[in-house]
Amino acid sequence: YTERDSLYGLMNYAKDQFKDLLFNTDDGRGIGLSYFRERGFNDRTIEKFELGYTLDQWDYLSKKALGIGYTSDLLAKAGLIVVRDDGRSYDRFRGRVIFPVHNLSGKVIAFGARILTKDKDQPKYINSPETDIYHKSHVLYGMYQAKNAIRREDFCYIVEGYTDVMSMHQAGIDNVVASSGTAFTEEQVKLIRRFSENVTVMFDGDAAGIKAALRGIDLVLKGGLNVRVVLLPDGDDPDSFSRKMPETELKQYLKEHAKDFISFKIDLLAQESGHDPIRRAEAIREIVTSISLIPDPIKRSVYIQETSTLLKIQEAVLQTELNKITLTER
Ligand code: UTP
Ligand code: MN
Ligand code: MN
Ligand code: MN
Ligand code: MN
Repeated sequence: YTERDSLYGLMNYAKDQFKDLLFNTDDGRGIGLSYFRERGFNDRTIEKFELGYTLDQWDYLSKKALGIGYTSDLLAKAGLIVVRDDGRSYDRFRGRVIFPVHNLSGKVIAFGARILTKDKDQPKYINSPETDIYHKSHVLYGMYQAKNAIRREDFCYIVEGYTDVMSMHQAGIDNVVASSGTAFTEEQVKLIRRFSENVTVMFDGDAAGIKAALRGIDLVLKGGLNVRVVLLPDGDDPDSFSRKMPETELKQYLKEHAKDFISFKIDLLAQESGHDPIRRAEAIREIVTSISLIPDPIKRSVYIQETSTLLKIQEAVLQTELNKITLTER
């Protein structure tokens, strides 16, 4: 066995412990399971995502793991314990509900753990650190559960968080992964491309959501993916929104409100800049910059035409600008 095998084994063991605690202890049922149920997650979803619970104790998991022969060195390498400067250590995840992160073959490689109190001094989620089997920048939460559906539907929804992914599944939409609140990486774009070239970004309908939708999208365009954006009503995230209507209505809504990314950006920038000529010029340059990132020349040309129509600017002007950008980039 290699050390990686041992890490997979230990993470699987921890996942099984967390599941067992959720279903078979008083705290697990009374605190953890009722939390999930109050949020409307059913048993099928809880099982599909292998959700769990950790007791509010300093060494429950490490004690058990050590007891069956795992070493504290391995527990540290798996990110399951935190080792202090004085050499003492304690369980990283305590008194929280657990969301395992799976790799493409379904093995657990990391955990996210959500707080259950309103304590503002503690982070809402605690996540596994980078380990030999977990490279955050390569992973999208939910890909294991979504990959077949992404291939079948030939597109992929991208949402922000763990519970957004789970709620979408529960609403009957399985082709969804989460960026886990961070900016996109090239590796994640490559990962999606293995299953489809089409993504639909679905973020919250507030200013922060729009920012998040725009952030990192240049990278996705550069990766050659076709990007659409669904803006949810202000105050909703995919978790809350997907609970508001039946499956067919939800699917219909998402279909109708998915806007091509460039058109989305044009609308947004046109709204922001109004009739101010200087700001309009800046906005146009920003759109053309996004278009310049698209690898396929035919797609670029289609977008130039579209921008020309929507913003009422001559195509030749946009084309000149586009040429300028691609030339300076070389
Ligand atoms: P959100 O704050 O939007 O949380 O962060 P959420 O997913 O809606 O969670 P609920 O519904 O309140 O339970 C989006 C994602 O960002 C990451 C998590 O992956 C989260 O799902 N995040 C957020 C963290 O890693 N740490 C945090 O403290 C907060
Ligand atoms: Mn790697
Ligand atoms: Mn948000
Ligand atoms: Mn959210
Ligand atoms: Mn939420």
